[in-house]
Amino acid sequence: MVTAVCFAKRGYEVVGVDPDSRRIELIRNAKAPFFEPSLDVYLKETVENGRLKVTSDSVANAGSDFAYITVGTPSADDGSIDLTYIRNAAAAIGKSLRKREGYQVIVLKSTVIPGTARNVVKPILEEQSGKELGRGFGLCSNPEFLREGNAVYDSESPDRIVIGGQVDDIERLEMFYREFYGQSHHVIKTTYENAELTKYANNSFLAMKVSFINMIANLCQKTTGGDVEDVAKGIGLDKRIGSLFLMAGLGWGGSCFPKDLKAIAAYGKTINVKTTLIDAAISVNDEQPLKAVEMAEKLSGDLRGKRVAILGLAFKPNTDDIREAVSIPIIRKLLTTKAKVAVYDPAAMPNIRALFRDELQYAETAMDCINRADCCIIATEWDEFKKMLPSIFIQNMKRPVVVDGRRIYDPLTFIEAGVIFSAIGLGET
Ligand code: UGA
Repeated sequence: MVTAVCFAKRGYEVVGVDPDSRRIELIRNAKAPFFEPSLDVYLKETVENGRLKVTSDSVANAGSDFAYITVGTPSADDGSIDLTYIRNAAAAIGKSLRKREGYQVIVLKSTVIPGTARNVVKPILEEQSGKELGRGFGLCSNPEFLREGNAVYDSESPDRIVIGGQVDDIERLEMFYREFYGQSHHVIKTTYENAELTKYANNSFLAMKVSFINMIANLCQKTTGGDVEDVAKGIGLDKRIGSLFLMAGLGWGGSCFPKDLKAIAAYGKTINVKTTLIDAAISVNDEQPLKAVEMAEKLSGDLRGKRVAILGLAFKPNTDDIREAVSIPIIRKLLTTKAKVAVYDPAAMPNIRALFRDELQYAETAMDCINRADCCIIATEWDEFKKMLPSIFIQNMKRPVVVDGRRIYDPLTFIEAGVIFSAIGLGET
């Protein structure tokens, strides 16, 4: 969706194909089917000026120079990758290639395990089109590195572009990208498999970095005088480490890290290679969310019958996505302790309501959520929560207990103001 609007915004003719007619209808009316900053504005402009068209008709891509596969690659029950949507998309494009004159480059942007372009997509395209790779069509692996919540910015200004495939096809796609992004952009040209692996290595490394700082946070928290914020600052200034992705918290979630780490670990098993560091990153992350409940219990005692407010439900700020969000295991655990759970998120309320229905109290505002609460857990670091002063908690809560799971508050200010305060990675003073 974001790739499509960014190309269309720059004046390219884009046709989007999706089998979901409800989604197609929304987009035709310039309504984004999910929340993402700037997406609405881009969508309105490109739908209205006719550069972006959408349809459920899969042969609609036949006239284009490039056909992007951007479908989801969810986890199968055993954690391995499910390639059903990739196979379906490749078959649909292959069929449309059959009648097409001239050359089309198929660009595989979805995250897929090594070997998928060569051993899954290429044979399907060849079989369905009756053509051979390099004659009539090309195929490139071109993984996507955009972040939810920053997707438009990342699409327009990627750190680098990775293209895997045969030399001629890489050149065709590179030419297009040079026109789009400018001549000075870093373009890495490589094999299909290296491009596919780069994406997993990238996400695994970032997830590992977060799990690492969360492990250090847990050490800090049990150390008198410890504070992970200072330790993260200290190591982040070492250029070899870097300061990004060292924000300790309740763990990583979303539609990418959890499924991608599981998929690459499962791939490792199939080729008999141990993925010890990836397994460890997953295991640290599995335990991290429930730290919030332990901290709440430490400050508030038995939570049975108590009102616990959770601020932040999306897996990160600036999105309404709750897939694998840490709020979910926290809510589940609180419900088993028989706490009364009140929740609020600026964007994700409809999604969380669809999941928990009448099990929770859905607040209209952050203030409404903490009102008369015995304890408040910060689970996502939305800007509007950062602005909440200690006095707001003191005046509105039954007992001002705050568990800062995302390190958004200054501990000293909160403690001195009289908040009963605890934060991830903060040891006793
Ligand atoms: C991630 C990658 O950052 C993108 O490069 C990649 O394209 C994308 O996955 C994907 O595979 O499609 P995303 O899942 O949108 O992007 O979000 P991130 O900003 O990476 O955050 C992931 C999780 O890590 C969030 O739950 C976030 O709260 C957590 N996180 C991140 C931390 O807990 N601490 C940090 O310092 C950074």
